[in-house]
Amino acid sequence: MRHQVCIIGAGPSGLLLGQLLAKAGVDAVILEARSADYVLSRIRAGVLESGFVDLMREAGCAGRLEQEGLVHGGFSLAFDGRIERIDLQGLTGGKSVVVYGQTEVTRDLMEARAAIGAPIVYEAEDVALHDFDGSHPRVTYRKDGASHEIACDFIAGCDGFHGASRRSVPERAIASFERVYGFGWLGLLADVPPASEELIYARHMHGFALASMRSHTRSRYYIQVPLSDQVGDWPDDRFYDAFRRRLPDEVAERVVTGPSLEKSIAPLRSFVAEPLRFGRLFLAGDAGHIVPPTGAKGLNLAASDVHYLASGLIEHYAEGSDAGIDGYSARALARIWKAERFSWWMTSMLHLFPEAGGFSARMQLAELDYIATSKAAAITVAENYVGLPY
Ligand code: APR
Ligand code: PHB
Repeated sequence: MRHQVCIIGAGPSGLLLGQLLAKAGVDAVILEARSADYVLSRIRAGVLESGFVDLMREAGCAGRLEQEGLVHGGFSLAFDGRIERIDLQGLTGGKSVVVYGQTEVTRDLMEARAAIGAPIVYEAEDVALHDFDGSHPRVTYRKDGASHEIACDFIAGCDGFHGASRRSVPERAIASFERVYGFGWLGLLADVPPASEELIYARHMHGFALASMRSHTRSRYYIQVPLSDQVGDWPDDRFYDAFRRRLPDEVAERVVTGPSLEKSIAPLRSFVAEPLRFGRLFLAGDAGHIVPPTGAKGLNLAASDVHYLASGLIEHYAEGSDAGIDGYSARALARIWKAERFSWWMTSMLHLFPEAGGFSARMQLAELDYIATSKAAAITVAENYVGLPY
């Protein structure tokens, strides 16, 4: 079997890339290790920058997002009994974000791919990348016991942090930069109306909490927990008690409780691989970098990578120019590092670092008070939150 591009992974990166390429007449196949149902059962992020929404439009997949997505013109920071709103629109000249779950983004992209009949192989086992340092890369996999091989011009490694693509690069060719935090986020999804119309990021002496949502009737709440905790340690009642305790009273009073539809713990990590291109293999999305979720940059960074990569590949086929693919890694990394900085900074400012002591805690409060009282400081938060330009 031969395709122009072989995309590994059917998360948001791989599916969005596939759709943008298909629109431009570039032929790509997607290989995904899991089943479609499994991919759709993962509950992940939910805040989209306007650049992401534009790309979904370009891909012809923004219909439901435009109908059902909630436009948010601000969010709040809660600390020290205060609640301070960041007026995204007012501080950025009218920009906002859209609250719409990653699961729904994935569903829309999968349906669009099925509608155009573009090839996608689910439950592809033992996916392996070959010869991407030469001009004839290949990808092999097994499906239902049979072995398959795909010959292609380019491989797009969109298979997430634990995927095969980054691991197939020789260690001496890749540099990794990493910070692991000693805690995770325990997330709970429930069909209860959100406690607040906009998101609230709360710093509290017991740990961080985030009140987010998926719709007017579905809430997504998070609390910081030690990495040693298990989901089983947190029955719903215990979660809601801890969550309410970390919010300002006026918000805590409005928290409606209800049975969890999903509950999971995600460790926080910052990670960047450099470069993002190895011959005819490109890494995009979580395969190349991870941000902690504070600031909601993970999914949005995947989208900017895909934008740069899709335009480079389309330029290669349409105009015979390699300028876009040659510049991909540097262009993507410039934006990635700024989002890494913002996510690390938001994480540092809002979480409990028990080992860091009183000085660090005072620094967090001074930082938050500065944002609340300085327009210059608030603008830097807002312009990063709505997303730096592509
Ligand atoms: N072969 C094929 N597919 C694989 C392999 C493999 N060896 N390993 C992983 N995959 C698949 C996973 O099952 C998953 O569906 O690759 C996909 C990667 O998807 P994501 O992890 O969602 O990564 P990405 O598409 O880059 O999306 C980034 O998703 O995880 C969030 O925080 C992240 O919001 C960010 C966004
Ligand atoms: C979410 O709704 O899942 C969410 C929102 C904002 C974040 C992280 C996660 O910063």
